[in-house]
Amino acid sequence: MGRLENKVALVTGAASGIGAACVERFAREGARVAGFDVSEEPANWATLVADAPESLYRAGDVRDEQGVQATVRAVEERFGRLDVLVNAAGVGGGGPVHMLPSEEWDRVVDINLKGTYLMCKYAVEGMLERRAGNIVNIASIEGLEGTEGGSAYNASKGGVVVLTKNLAIDYARRGIRVNCVCPGFVDTPLLRSIFDQNDLGPVRERIADAHQLGRLGRSEEIASAVLFLASDDASFVVGHALVVDGGLTAGHRYGISEMLGLA
Ligand SMILES: NC(=O)c1ccc[n+]([C@@H]2O[C@H](COP(=O)([O-])OP(=O)(O)OC[C@H]3O[C@@H](n4cnc5c(N)ncnc54)[C@H](O)[C@@H]3O)[C@@H](O)[C@H]2O)c1
Repeated sequence: MGRLENKVALVTGAASGIGAACVERFAREGARVAGFDVSEEPANWATLVADAPESLYRAGDVRDEQGVQATVRAVEERFGRLDVLVNAAGVGGGGPVHMLPSEEWDRVVDINLKGTYLMCKYAVEGMLERRAGNIVNIASIEGLEGTEGGSAYNASKGGVVVLTKNLAIDYARRGIRVNCVCPGFVDTPLLRSIFDQNDLGPVRERIADAHQLGRLGRSEEIASAVLFLASDDASFVVGHALVVDGGLTAGHRYGISEMLGLA
């Protein structure tokens, strides 16, 4: 029996990277899965949901309040309810503030933070009625600490971390658990495009090496953590920011491990 058997899940950012990995894992765990993404249905959607009893895909923007509301309604109409919401839609972006156009600030914060708020706003309506529900937001370790040039991205993800805690407080006694996952750097199209667009090839290796495991994360490793929080295995976990970062934020290395033969 799958860990999400008989559950209905809606995943934003479902067309790519971490969201797509959540869709695939949730389907394998027995959930009926709906995907929502600004991209048209990806070519591999049927493969992602191959193990799901039923599935649904809707294209739309998490900043579009009417579209968000209509998507939540469509999922509830099709499957009878919504049990699990995963907010994985997101974009990178930022830069030192004196170099950052205010439109770019708005774009990043609106997609990453306001989009999360809008999805939660409409998802909790039905969850409140049923006194049951589960929300997992994809934040970032960049929402827990600063990164050079992070600005808008880090601010948006810091907002997601604290919004997660507020949602958890507001709804825990109505049966809705809310948590977030804070990934380290994960090898997805988003991260690859940042490295490619900005000619950051050499930085990629330094970033990978900054993780204690010496590598970037994989989308499937983040999906496993999301699954834990979304499942009954995490029944007493509320308002938590779960760091899944290969040790990136555990501390610093100065070469002593190598001297001791531990590398
Ligand atoms: N890759 C990383 O290193 C990393 C690290 C920490 C957190 N995250 C977060 O994980 C989440 C998923 O990122 P990813 O790395 O898988 O990226 P990705 O680009 O592979 O996937 C993100 C998806 O979100 C969708 N999306 C973007 N804007 C949207 C909008 N306005 N409305 C609806 N959908 C939209 C994209 O079309 C895409 O399919 C993001 O919130 C990201 O910030 C990523």
